[in-house]
Amino acid sequence: MEIVAVIPQEGIMPLRITVIGTGYLGATHAACMAELGFEVLGLDADPKKVEQLSAGILPFHEPGLPELLREHTSSGRLRFTTSYEEAGAWGDVHFIAVGTPQKAGDHAADMTYVDNATLSLARCITKDALIVGKSTVPVGTARRLRELVAQVNPDVSIDLLWNPEFLREGFAVKDTLTPDRLVVGGGTPEAVAVLREVYASALASDTPFIVTDLETAELVKVAANAFLATKISFINAFAEVTEHVGGDIRTLADAIGLDKRIGRRFLNAGVGFGGGCLPKDIRALQARVSELGLDRTMRFLSEVDEINLRRRERVVHLATEILHELDGRKITVLGVAFKPNSDDVRDSPALDVAAQLFNAGADVSIYDPEAMNNARLRFPRLNYAESLDEALDGSHLTILLTEWQEFVQLKPSHLEHLVESKALIDGRNVLDHDEWIESGWHFESLGRRSELVLTEAGSGS
Ligand code: UGA
Repeated sequence: MEIVAVIPQEGIMPLRITVIGTGYLGATHAACMAELGFEVLGLDADPKKVEQLSAGILPFHEPGLPELLREHTSSGRLRFTTSYEEAGAWGDVHFIAVGTPQKAGDHAADMTYVDNATLSLARCITKDALIVGKSTVPVGTARRLRELVAQVNPDVSIDLLWNPEFLREGFAVKDTLTPDRLVVGGGTPEAVAVLREVYASALASDTPFIVTDLETAELVKVAANAFLATKISFINAFAEVTEHVGGDIRTLADAIGLDKRIGRRFLNAGVGFGGGCLPKDIRALQARVSELGLDRTMRFLSEVDEINLRRRERVVHLATEILHELDGRKITVLGVAFKPNSDDVRDSPALDVAAQLFNAGADVSIYDPEAMNNARLRFPRLNYAESLDEALDGSHLTILLTEWQEFVQLKPSHLEHLVESKALIDGRNVLDHDEWIESGWHFESLGRRSELVLTEAGSGS
């Protein structure tokens, strides 16, 4: 899609946009708004992050984003601050993009950041303005905040809308500049018209623009993530069946995916979903509907969560079966990011499995092209190899858990002179089963009946 930049007309000031919170969502949104031609001010409470971003340095991995950040911080169109006073006095449209992590010891979302950011900003707004929520929040949040905003600052007119974000890590720039759809909840017709101006570029390419109420907008986001999580656990539940009775989960997914009503995407069986969104969003949704007295309504999501976590146990179980005992055995884990093209290890299935193997006594060696530093911060005691080959050196078992392209392309011949034992678990169903078996490897994958079980049953492959 062609990106149509905002061309300021004579005498008309382009909208000034602030983005509160500069994590994956906020930093991407800020840089993309600058790319569209707006003057942008990003705000973060962390002075170190503000310093880095102001210098054009992105503190996380996201393809395509460093280039935008450098370009627009150099031109001065994109700036960063820690000051709510500056943001409140300067901006016309304020996007709230702070996190809503899972509360410690609870399934509900921790709303501290959204509440504090919105109200700190509202107190400092000195002219009529829009606050636009992008964070994923429990239904009812926007209406509650709208009332609080009016209470803390009755002197100016502040409208509050919700405009959930659907970007995927790894594709964040593309998803922001050319989204599948835009959803805007709440707001006067004038406020909605301002958002049409903000998103003029996407709208010029006929991106669907759905105008609705606050509650629907909030729910669209959690419904989308709950659906995606359910789709993954659905195929993983069938993987449990094919592991038991035989069959090939990839072919099964291909076959049902050809039905256009079902679709093939998000039917990749493996070690399951992780990250900062899907796991905590399905838990927060259950917590919220229970709070609303709808205890049974989202109960199926507990099952979705459980199926997902069982996939991790399955990998540990397979490793134990292959090696007989884990104590002192060297296991190479390929990938620790929660998915490829990201350095994010929040609720990463791969890192969880690596930690479980380590806790069971294995000597775990890890390699990931981007996520090593983040993983090391969480689990300093695992071995972090400098290179893929170093990670594989002397390994008794190799486990692929994040499908980075360089792992998907691995050939048995490359590994053979490095590893101690030709044993591999494909935790993402991305390698060619036959190729590895024909090369003499003990090859296991999730969603196929275990070779080990078959051998024990005396039935061959
Ligand atoms: C997810 C949603 O896809 C975005 O639309 C949403 O905006 C975002 O959460 C959010 O709420 O901010 P993201 O967390 O970046 O995006 O990751 P996904 O691409 O959805 O993948 C989530 C997990 O599911 C990963 O661990 C991935 O490996 C796993 N997955 C995905 C599977 O196990 N199988 C699949 O078929 C697809």
